[in-house]
Amino acid sequence: MNKSMIVIVVSVVATVLMLLLLGSIQGNKADQAMINVVPNIKKLEPRSAEWGKYYPRQYDSYIATKESDKIDDVLKKDPNLVVLWAGYAFSKDYNAPRGHFYMLEDNINTLRTADPVDDKTGPMPTACWTCKSPDVPRLMAEKGELEFFTGKWSRLGAEIVNPVGCADCHDNETMRLSVKRDFLARALDAEGSAPFAKATHQDMRTLVCAQCHVEYYFKKTDWQDADGKDQTAMVVTLPWNNGLSVEAIEQYYDERKFSDWTHQLSKAPMLKAQHPGYETFKTGMHGQNNLGCADCHMPYVREGGVKYSDHKIGSPLDNIRNTCLNCHGESEEEFKQIVKRKLERKDELAFAATDAIAKAHFEAAKAWELGASEDEMTPALMDIRHAQWRWDFAVASHGGFFHAPEETLRILATAIDKGYAARLKLRDILAKYGAPGFEGPAFSNKAEAQELIGLQMDKLVDEKITFLNTLRKEWIQKASHSGKDIYDPKTEVKTFKTSYNAEK
Ligand code: HEC
Ligand code: HEC
Ligand code: HEC
Ligand code: HEC
Repeated sequence: MNKSMIVIVVSVVATVLMLLLLGSIQGNKADQAMINVVPNIKKLEPRSAEWGKYYPRQYDSYIATKESDKIDDVLKKDPNLVVLWAGYAFSKDYNAPRGHFYMLEDNINTLRTADPVDDKTGPMPTACWTCKSPDVPRLMAEKGELEFFTGKWSRLGAEIVNPVGCADCHDNETMRLSVKRDFLARALDAEGSAPFAKATHQDMRTLVCAQCHVEYYFKKTDWQDADGKDQTAMVVTLPWNNGLSVEAIEQYYDERKFSDWTHQLSKAPMLKAQHPGYETFKTGMHGQNNLGCADCHMPYVREGGVKYSDHKIGSPLDNIRNTCLNCHGESEEEFKQIVKRKLERKDELAFAATDAIAKAHFEAAKAWELGASEDEMTPALMDIRHAQWRWDFAVASHGGFFHAPEETLRILATAIDKGYAARLKLRDILAKYGAPGFEGPAFSNKAEAQELIGLQMDKLVDEKITFLNTLRKEWIQKASHSGKDIYDPKTEVKTFKTSYNAEK
């Protein structure tokens, strides 16, 4: 290269650097201007894009939760679950959680919410929307909590149109973290060890998540509306009066003789655990050391001179540098291995539990068939109830295998113990009624298990698709033309991913 070439190259490089610098100064100026704008956001504004106008980084990273779009069919992974949930909608369809962006779509698409034809039909109550959308606190404020919790899921289809958003976790004026679901505060107060009024800022970094990632049930509550008419609400209630442990919550339900459904095969009074993520997290090493959910799931990241919380809530393993390595010295690869091994240990015990419990359901069905009495069956059925509750609590605490590995494995061990206690009792009953050594039918995949419990999957899928093509479309039409400023086309998912074939 001759001298003049060198001069040209150097001056081109210098010009490019100058332009980059200028760009970054202008970028910072734009940021500065943004900071000086006083945001003008309506109270409980459900459309996150309206907040995003003032906080583009948080908004863009929030929208990026749509990258986690993989469907992971849990029934396929362990067909025993179909038997465990026989007689309950989870036996039809159940996928692992994915990005927050999809929570409404997944709720609408799942075969569990079935196929309502108008605003009064369909199996599910309005409560099923509770942990899905910022339209929920909006409606609770507009109509009152009891009215919100009254009626069928389909009643609010045209009102609930935004997936979890800024309004679920932030105050519109101060942007401070805030909890928008009163049942959480009520439950913390009822439990007593950490009343809501005493929550610190660090606690709030967990409690905003605990609005949804908790165990709950629908408490039947009678009330009178403004016209004096009798109404019944199904109110989301966190069963924490006796404490947060699996045993304390089990006792809460037992005391109230509460059950979610009667098992189709064993006739046991069953409980469905929801997602007690908060409860188990609190027992783990990180919870004990007062980490918040946001410390790992919403790490601070830097962009130029700006530091902000990454709102792409997902697996912290995608960002080990900004999460684990803030506090720990291991390498990224070591951390991936540590977490993987914890997952394998949980899966091993979880499978042992579902295997035992599925067998117990079949054995109980056989005992009934042979004429066993209710008195004979009750102790075994209580063991089944408790075994399945505990297994479910451990696995539905998504991430529990990592958040609280010891507690998760302990709970699974008690599930296996109770599952076998049931089987021993049933063995005696079966022997008495002439069927010693009875074994339930074999099945090797989800479809076989579903057939075994009599589910007509083709019919269920057809009905669902009809719903998606009719009432669901009407909901979107209504929401987008309601004149209520609630609908945002950007967060409406237009590609449908499901565990069944929705392309028909
Ligand atoms: C309004 C209820 C709600 C709030 C608040 C909420 N979540 Fe979620 N979260 C959900 C639901 C529902 C899903 C499952 C979404 C799906 O599968 O479509 C989910 C999924 C997740 C996932 C799985 C994501 C993936 O890509 O697999 C993680 C991790 C998570 N939430 C963590 C958090 C954390 C941390 C917070 C608090 C900062 C939080 N969530 C606040 C309801 C909520
Ligand atoms: C699931 C709860 C949740 C949702 C939904 C959520 N945030 Fe946040 N946000 C947080 C948490 C937790 C923090 C960290 C706050 C802290 O420690 O001070 C935060 C911090 C912020 C901050 C303070 C600066 C920063 O980045 O730390 C802004 C601004 C913000 N969020 C904007 C938004 C906007 C805009 C949306 C909607 C697009 C949104 N948030 C949605 C939980 C949430
Ligand atoms: C110390 C870091 C840390 C903290 C704090 C933490 N988590 Fe996690 N979480 C993880 C890791 C690691 C995983 C496993 C991710 C994986 O397998 O890819 C996980 C998994 C999850 C999952 C399952 C995601 C899925 O797709 O299956 C959810 C939901 C979740 N966490 C929610 C929470 C909530 C809610 C809190 C607070 C109560 C919390 N986490 C606190 C690190 C943390
Ligand atoms: C804000 C600090 C902080 C962050 C972030 C953090 N940890 Fe920890 N971690 C701790 C503390 C404190 C302990 C308790 C250690 C002790 O007492 O020696 C701990 C303990 C652990 C343990 C041993 C206890 C157990 O549950 O098995 C593991 C493994 C671990 N962390 C992995 C991780 C991983 C993986 C991540 C990232 C997803 C992570 N940590 C993020 C602070 C942190």
